[in-house]
Amino acid sequence: MKLSVIGTGYLGATHAAAMAEIGHEVVGIDVDAAKIESLRGGTVPFHEPGLPELLAKGLAGGRLRFTTDFAAAADCVVHFVCVGTPQRKGENAADLTYVDAAVAALIEHLPVGSLVVGKSTVPVGTAERLAGLVEAAGSDLAWNPEFLREGKAVQDTLRPDRIVMGVTGERAEKLLRDVYEPIVSLGTPVIVTDLPTSELVKVSANAFLATKISFINAIAEVCEVVGADVTMVAEAIGHDARIGHRFLGAGLGFGGGCLPKDIRAFMARAEELGVDQALNFLREVDAINVRRRARTVDLAREMCGGSLAGARVGVLGAAFKPDSDDIRDSPALDVALAVQQAGAAVRVYDPYAMDNARISFPTLAYAASATAACHDADVVLHLTEWAEFREMEPSVLSEVVRGRNIVDARNALDRERWTADGWIHRSLGRRSI
Ligand code: UDX
Repeated sequence: MKLSVIGTGYLGATHAAAMAEIGHEVVGIDVDAAKIESLRGGTVPFHEPGLPELLAKGLAGGRLRFTTDFAAAADCVVHFVCVGTPQRKGENAADLTYVDAAVAALIEHLPVGSLVVGKSTVPVGTAERLAGLVEAAGSDLAWNPEFLREGKAVQDTLRPDRIVMGVTGERAEKLLRDVYEPIVSLGTPVIVTDLPTSELVKVSANAFLATKISFINAIAEVCEVVGADVTMVAEAIGHDARIGHRFLGAGLGFGGGCLPKDIRAFMARAEELGVDQALNFLREVDAINVRRRARTVDLAREMCGGSLAGARVGVLGAAFKPDSDDIRDSPALDVALAVQQAGAAVRVYDPYAMDNARISFPTLAYAASATAACHDADVVLHLTEWAEFREMEPSVLSEVVRGRNIVDARNALDRERWTADGWIHRSLGRRSI
């Protein structure tokens, strides 16, 4: 089938390449000429494991192309809208400028009888509003939310847990089933529903995941007071199949371009709808999450003898999570900045996110390796659990630091190994050994 994909960020670029992989003829369209140039040349403009290979294959096979010209959508049957819905400045609500602009630009070139499919995460009610515009142009609109995780985007797109189709009629469902046939035939569950339900599935999933993380981080706060160990609480309760171990990793909490802004947009929408009380708990979820960052700064201060002024701090990690170079709402950079503002000399190292971090946080100092970041450090902060840090021999850092003090804000280091090498190891929700 001939498909267009509007927006070529994490979601759109991955979706376009994956759709070419399963046999479709795909054109990716974006207003960002530099991004399109890069993708055309076979370079993914962000770090996403497996995507460069998929892109190269699609380009070489001639099934995948990229352009800034919306007219390229004119000979496509199905059009996926994959643009961002960031948080509005100074507000909780989502900024729908890009979605509205993409649909408006698409309508200009939309052949009658085509299907526009929204994949962006939007406030419930958006799809119904857009459906009116698309139907007036003689086409249909469906909503087909995306659940991909950065770092695992290719796998999540080609082998999703489920496919949700929010549709207004059989024709839209048939077209979507045709698009996804190679994935559905693998046994992937398909949920066919209406537009508002499909929008809610996505925001509910993210709200639940955020709540699960903040739940265990709230327990971590209690553990810190009573001297209990949150990792063992998580291990023990996770064996209950109704609870499960995933997303019970206590530590610095969630960041990134999705969970934080999605729970805020969900609260803002609930307020507009007059059901704000129903989602009041998300305010607490957000607050718990932010408090973990403050606690990490406090631990760093304690390890520096009560004041960060004049201290040297080595920061390991800048990305919001490992295997990603995304620094949007990164807890790691938030902590690094707060420690710097408290008077410390901070040096940051991250295996992939340094370029992005430098652009957004030019006042922080950066180092070319973990050892360079920790040179002469009084305390080391482990803030993003890259494999490089988890597997590091403590002795490598012992040789360069001024004080063997480490805060493992992700509960991801082997603390026996670090303490055996003479380090004082502190973490969130656990007593020191
Ligand atoms: C998330 C959702 O998982 C995905 O389904 C949705 O489509 C987009 O948002 P992503 O933002 O890529 O994906 O990251 P995810 O892997 O979900 O992690 C989110 C944050 O939670 C990260 O900062 C991570 O470090 C943190 N996290 C995750 C924890 O603090 N503890 C955990 O146990 C798991």
